[in-house]
Amino acid sequence: MHLVKKITVLGSGIMGHGIAQVCAMAGYNVTLRDIESSLLDKALEKVKWSLSKLVEKQKITQIEADRIFHRITPEVDLELSLRDTDLLIEAVPEDLGLKKKVYTDVDKFAEEKTLYASNTSTLPITEMAALTGRPERFIGLHFFNPPQLMRLVEIIPGRGTNQHTINTALDFVMRVGKEPVLCRKDVAGFIVNRIFIPLVHEAAYCLERDGVSMTQIDSAVKYKMGFPMGIFELADYTGLDVIFKATSEMYSRDTRIVHPHPKIKELVDAQNLGQKTGKGFYEYSGNTYERVNLTPEEAAKYNPISLVAVSANNAAWLISNNVCTKEDVDKALRLGMGLKKDLFGTVEIFGVGNVVEKLREMASKYGSRYDPDVYLQSYKSK
Ligand code: 3HC
Repeated sequence: MHLVKKITVLGSGIMGHGIAQVCAMAGYNVTLRDIESSLLDKALEKVKWSLSKLVEKQKITQIEADRIFHRITPEVDLELSLRDTDLLIEAVPEDLGLKKKVYTDVDKFAEEKTLYASNTSTLPITEMAALTGRPERFIGLHFFNPPQLMRLVEIIPGRGTNQHTINTALDFVMRVGKEPVLCRKDVAGFIVNRIFIPLVHEAAYCLERDGVSMTQIDSAVKYKMGFPMGIFELADYTGLDVIFKATSEMYSRDTRIVHPHPKIKELVDAQNLGQKTGKGFYEYSGNTYERVNLTPEEAAKYNPISLVAVSANNAAWLISNNVCTKEDVDKALRLGMGLKKDLFGTVEIFGVGNVVEKLREMASKYGSRYDPDVYLQSYKSK
């Protein structure tokens, strides 16, 4: 196995700065690279905020926070940022054209020993690996937002990734205190986003179809499906630009995966990208971290069976296509999205028969993309 000592994170946005912090917290020296120092300044401010929260909650001491902070070196020069790096984690925006340019530049400067990992949320790993001179040493390492708090990292080998790289990635993920789940096939959305992204769109359809409010849906998602946040709240928190890009990518690979709701594009076109711009599905006051007020009373007004059905159907697809096991799905949703109840446990509460029936009803009204997956049809309650 390749012993990782020095790490370079490319891109200092929401994911990049968080990943750099996670690595620094595990004792690694990290170079955080972005194209402008003003972006790096903002990223380091966010790291400081996050560390101060962890100090406030007594997870670390102030002395540890200071040490962690100093393990992160901001750098604008790409060549310098790649010097002596064992592991490169790329977290630049989700645009294949941009990634192509980044990997062409990286290939010029990266040392022979450097392994490449992409934090892409949906782009095909095999295709990105092919842009580089080392496809056998290229892998997907997908962290979840906020990386400082979410314990999951999906590991996605491309078709050419060698076992040595997979082993190094597994070892690295555990060394940074995270839990890996192996996504056996390079499918659109991997595991979590295959369930999360279509759910955002489905919730937008439910607003019209069921004539309910956003807070009723969100409260039901929180109190009846065990999510820590409502689904619109989570979409705003993730960033609607991120959701939109992931949607476009997944839809371009297979139109059956996700049925894009026009509201997301409208919000993105108006630059209402969620919490970070002060407006998305909800409005925000501009604080670093804001929550929507969701209540059990509001939850009582809505039955989210369509949302349970659509998430379970996508999870079932992953299982019946041998992308991962049912245990992997439950682990990924628990650690990557903070679910307090297993998805299939929720399906059992709603009744497997009712869920399958709901999908059949939706298929007859809205199209065959809702047809229940074979795994769900033959699912036996415990
Ligand atoms: N670092 C340190 N502390 C942080 C933090 C960070 N980055 N972000 C938030 N916190 C703090 C909050 O400020 C809050 O502190 P406070 O008590 O002083 O106000 C504290 O953490 C806990 O927050 P909450 O009281 O709001 O409690 P929760 O129990 O809900 O935990 C959460 C917050 C962990 C974010 C939880 O709501 C959660 O798990 N949400 C779901 C997140 C999720 O689904 N992520 C995945 C999205 S999909 C993705 O990333 C993939 C991509 O490819 C699209």
